[in-house]
Amino acid sequence: MSQSEAKYLKDYQTPAFTITHVDLAFHLDESRTQVRAKSKVVRLGPVGEPLVLVGEQLKMLSVTLDGEPVEYQETEGELRIETQAQAFELEIVTALDPQANSSLEGLYMSDGAYCTQCEAEGFRRISYFLDRPDVLAKYTVRIEADKSAFPFLLSNGNLIDQGEADNGRHFVCWEDPFPKPSYLFALVAGDFDLLEDQFVTMSKRTVKLQVFVDKGNLHKASHAMASLKKSMKWDEERFGLEYDLDIYMIVAVDFFNMGAMENKGLNIFNTKYVLADTASATDDDYHGIESVVGHEYFHNWTGNRITCRDWFQLSLKEGLTVFRDQEFSSDLGSRAVNRIHAIKVMKNQQFAEDSGPMAHPIRPESVIEMNNFYTVTVYNKGAEVIRMLHTLLGEQGFQAGMKTYVERHDGQAVTCDDFVNAMEDASSKDLSQFRRWYAQAGTPVVTVAADFNQALNRFSLTLSQSVKGVDGQLGEPLHIPFSIELLDRDGNSLANKVLELTASSQIFHFDGIMQPPVMSLLQDFSAPVRLDYQYSIEELVHLMAFASSEVARWEASVALISHGIWHCVKQRQSQTVMTLSAEIIDAFRGVILHEDLDPALVAEMLTLPTAAALIEQVDHVELDFLAQAREFILAQLAVSCEDELAARYQSLISKDDAGSRAYKNACLLLLCQVSDSYEATVQQQYDSAMNMTDSLGALHAAVKGQFSNKEALLADFERKWRHTPLVMDKWFALQAMDDSPEVIETIKRLSQHSSFSFNNPNRVRSLIGTFAMGNTYQFNKIDGSGYQYLTQILIKLNDINPQLASRMVTPLIQFAKFDVQRQAHIRACLSELLALPNLSKDVYEKVSKALA
Ligand code: TRP
Ligand code: ZN
Repeated sequence: MSQSEAKYLKDYQTPAFTITHVDLAFHLDESRTQVRAKSKVVRLGPVGEPLVLVGEQLKMLSVTLDGEPVEYQETEGELRIETQAQAFELEIVTALDPQANSSLEGLYMSDGAYCTQCEAEGFRRISYFLDRPDVLAKYTVRIEADKSAFPFLLSNGNLIDQGEADNGRHFVCWEDPFPKPSYLFALVAGDFDLLEDQFVTMSKRTVKLQVFVDKGNLHKASHAMASLKKSMKWDEERFGLEYDLDIYMIVAVDFFNMGAMENKGLNIFNTKYVLADTASATDDDYHGIESVVGHEYFHNWTGNRITCRDWFQLSLKEGLTVFRDQEFSSDLGSRAVNRIHAIKVMKNQQFAEDSGPMAHPIRPESVIEMNNFYTVTVYNKGAEVIRMLHTLLGEQGFQAGMKTYVERHDGQAVTCDDFVNAMEDASSKDLSQFRRWYAQAGTPVVTVAADFNQALNRFSLTLSQSVKGVDGQLGEPLHIPFSIELLDRDGNSLANKVLELTASSQIFHFDGIMQPPVMSLLQDFSAPVRLDYQYSIEELVHLMAFASSEVARWEASVALISHGIWHCVKQRQSQTVMTLSAEIIDAFRGVILHEDLDPALVAEMLTLPTAAALIEQVDHVELDFLAQAREFILAQLAVSCEDELAARYQSLISKDDAGSRAYKNACLLLLCQVSDSYEATVQQQYDSAMNMTDSLGALHAAVKGQFSNKEALLADFERKWRHTPLVMDKWFALQAMDDSPEVIETIKRLSQHSSFSFNNPNRVRSLIGTFAMGNTYQFNKIDGSGYQYLTQILIKLNDINPQLASRMVTPLIQFAKFDVQRQAHIRACLSELLALPNLSKDVYEKVSKALA
């Protein structure tokens, strides 16, 4: 398979040519769009080297060099032109078929509108080009299309011309004054509702803000607009970074492979991260919109003004921008709850990736298909690495580093090393060892041993680290900020600091300690490592009550529940009856009875770790025992705390904030485990709900409790929402989570539903993705039926949309912890995929690594 060869970071070479200006003209047509690309090409390398451009699925119409026809060779996605010229103008005319493009990469159609997605390597589906991020060009774009069907014609930068054309068509010209790589190019043509506003920047420039949504959705655009204005303000205040164009546009489309895309001046968003009103969107949806709007906006500096030299450097922009969007959410909302969400992504998803066949450093060294590296490792572990820098340098040092980075590299395509150099130079902190975080795959394990010397009143802590890389080799020690608090018996804080662990083993002393303290270790997940320390139940109960950090209290609650669950698993293995200790129950009752805790935090504490999170805590898992243990603990906690939960539920009904709603719905979900007697409560909440959070909370409880009103509620919900695709996604997802062994039959039936389509990634993710990634027990059923069903779907998706197919392969490749029987079923499925004659590079890369 020649097209499936890996590319290596070590082979990076500066381009032999660059393109300084591009003039694009689009003649839009659904099945035959014509694209004329006029480029100013300049030779950078030695004379004699041919110009090699890349292109995919293009129909070549003509090529001229300085206005003259020129000889060219077109082979395997390459266009090769032998020329001696130093600088010249190249004009290429190609044709493409947007309507047939179901991959959602390049130029495609979403619900009758044209749109583009060029990151990472989609521009080559629009024209032959130097489609690599270190070629920065100034773009002008002319778009022509039918005027009545496509009144809005959008591209990057500022509008410079528009007018009428023949046959009821019209045209618009855009100019982007900032040089940019091709992956930031964007075009949209369609008919939309438009919400407009403005923002006055810190240097008093007025920026026009526009949010384009499908007709009839104008009232759902205001939260995105408000989020955009908050993002612009926040980036000025916290980072001193100001917007640079006169206009900022966001377009929402329903067919989109990811969350959103930061194209210069013209962001394109998945509707999921734009549209919201209280009737149809949950509190989580509102929060997601704010964070993704922020994320794309923050890319304007960290990604667009300063971009990546090559795709191996992706974390340069993504890790940093995720860090920035997390800080934005934390400054605007609850810092603790936002931190908890980030920690969950790391522990439940990134640790799994790091121990599976797709493990890679945040700066990967080899890639077959770049789209496969938009991962939780590059994004979320990348953000944790930036967060560690922030911890080590402090806010001031970090901001000084950012300032140096921006001053040095504005307008350039740079590397992760350039970023760390700027941080190092501005802060004069030695980061030479810290750089290993960029090169080292795998999750380091930090082991803790404590010793108390009564005679010296000295407490000593030995921290040891080890990390196994992809190849099983032991890695070099890393620079790990390890945050710790020591508490005395009464809950007073004795010490609270960040230790810097740099050696493979290191001892830290605390003097003036009169009694053995309780340790809160790796507070707030100060480094992306696994902590190896067995807390006792007593220690965890103490931390839940007294740790200064709210995040540490939550971590203790998760550890406590997990403790209870694994204890039950052991009891099942030794065929004794399962029990739950009174201390654990009392600790949870204490949380519910506590009057002063942040309700959003309590909601997190009352939500049991998912099966996936629990699996991450062990090396081997007996899934059936785990399922039984988790259900047992859930029921025990609910039954033992029934009165407190019911009282708390009642007291929260009148509250009207997101935290209280989350707490209330967590109570309801537990209560529905107690008995059918809560069916009426569920029904009442459903009937009187004033917002989607409460409707869905009730529906979830009815499904989870298998209440007799479940079918009626599901039917009512469907009747109300069948014309609102984003809400139908919630309905699909809820049913895909069903515990019953017939769930695959349900999913097959739902995939025939008129609202469902295999061409739409949101639909596929909500129905099939939720089943494969969220319904751990049914998906991993011992008879292999879950794996086989997913495999049939993947075969279909491989043809329609390889990017989507590849994302959905993930639950099939992380199988090392399962028993031989499950592994055998999975391997058979992977082999079936590998044998497909038209297997995409995307799926090939993951499947072949998993089988290796
Ligand atoms: N750069 C985008 C972001 O992080 C990610 C993205 C959007 C993307 N669409 C994509 C990545 C398609 C790969 C393919 O905001
Ligand atoms: Zn991003």
